[in-house]
Amino acid sequence: MDRKKIELDSFNTDIFKILNKGWMLLTSGDAGIGKANTMTVSWGFMGTIWFKPVVIVAVRPQRYTREFMEKYDNFTICSLPEDKKEALSFCGAHSGRDVDKIKECGLTVIPSEYISSPGFAEAELIIECRVIYQNDLNGENFLDKKIISQCYPESDFHRTYFGEVMKISGTDKYIA
Ligand SMILES: Cc1cc2nc3c(=O)[nH]c(=O)nc-3n(C[C@H](O)[C@H](O)[C@H](O)COP(=O)(O)O)c2cc1C
Repeated sequence: MDRKKIELDSFNTDIFKILNKGWMLLTSGDAGIGKANTMTVSWGFMGTIWFKPVVIVAVRPQRYTREFMEKYDNFTICSLPEDKKEALSFCGAHSGRDVDKIKECGLTVIPSEYISSPGFAEAELIIECRVIYQNDLNGENFLDKKIISQCYPESDFHRTYFGEVMKISGTDKYIA
């Protein structure tokens, strides 16, 4: 995939389309030693806090990927082209505890520039992030309690990871 480094000021994306509708791969690990896990995500945020550009992802306790997030403190979030939707479905329905999803989906791991977690050669967008803050959602803090019965019947509240954006690389469609 023909990606270029994109400066923040020129980054062009629709967060609702890319994440909530398009789905992305959240990957954490160490490309150098060939250890990484990936999973599909569609809940998340991109914005500014503490004067920094930040991506926030939300990971439930039972995800294998969470063990990697805790160990490596960094992650990539990648958008794949439309014809890779099957890979996204697979990575959102299987755990890395049971299957090597990266191999199974024929994805090619590539090293990142600033962090240990890899991206994928097939991605049209790769954002490298360094975790600077993490926080468990707390049932007591929900004003709309319906969200708890709808999303957390087993009290498996997400942990949110705030990742400072270290690098964005993408195809021309992500350049404003
Ligand atoms: C479209 C889609 C979006 C998802 N978004 C999230 C998410 O934002 N957070 C999360 O914890 N799980 C999410 N999941 C579920 C994980 O991708 C799924 O449980 C995956 O198998 C976890 O893999 P792992 O155990 O290897 O980490 C999503 C699944 C799909 C299909």
